[in-house]
Amino acid sequence: MKILEQVARDVRNLLAGAEGGHDWWHTYRVWQNALELAKTEEVDVLTIELASLLHDVADAKFHQGDESKGPQLAGKIMDQYPIDDATKSAVLEIIRNISFKNSFDREQRPNPELNIVQDADQLEALGAIGIARAFSYGGYINQPIFDPELPAKRFTSKKEYKNARSTSINHFYEKLLTLKDRMNTARGRELAETRSQYMVSFLEQFYTEIGHVPGWHHSR
Ligand code: ADP
Ligand code: NI
Repeated sequence: MKILEQVARDVRNLLAGAEGGHDWWHTYRVWQNALELAKTEEVDVLTIELASLLHDVADAKFHQGDESKGPQLAGKIMDQYPIDDATKSAVLEIIRNISFKNSFDREQRPNPELNIVQDADQLEALGAIGIARAFSYGGYINQPIFDPELPAKRFTSKKEYKNARSTSINHFYEKLLTLKDRMNTARGRELAETRSQYMVSFLEQFYTEIGHVPGWHHSR
């Protein structure tokens, strides 16, 4: 079996029973998105594929906030296969830096492979799939769908973002609709734009149905 197939099989086994928005099929879609984005850039495709496959094997939010678990486990998985050290450290670098909360203090060193995997993951938070994942995760943490008395916030630091109480609808404003301006690749930005527009239509329909157009939702 090829290395990538073996790693994919390991990840699929590990993610059995994961929250719906962070399961094997999320990883699989990130992998496919990344391959699509990689077509238009000069990059190391093996690094991109491994990083996509391993980016969510132990997400900190499912491990009491421990951010060392993911890179640790990804490293262990890679150690089972003949993967050279340079590729391994490039993959771990991506996994350490991919997440939105870490992008508040991301190093500014150019890293085209990280850029692609991050775009691939961010696309998963947008559009129809992004809507589905937001409510899946919101349900998982028992967060309200919507609360007219709880306004959306704008976060400026990782700590603030991690500690906030929110609603799934607020999450659209607090994170999801800001992603299109944080895309790294031209193709990623294009796809993000279309997916964001779809989410804005979803929100309009949502407010029409519940007969509530909160002023603060349009002040962004
Ligand atoms: P990162 O780890 O890069 O900060 P997340 O893993 O938090 O990104 O985001 C993954 C998915 O979980 C996204 O699709 C997002 O919509 C969803 N999610 C994260 N936090 C919330 C939240 N507070 N409410 C609803 N959905 C959320
Ligand atoms: Ni992910």
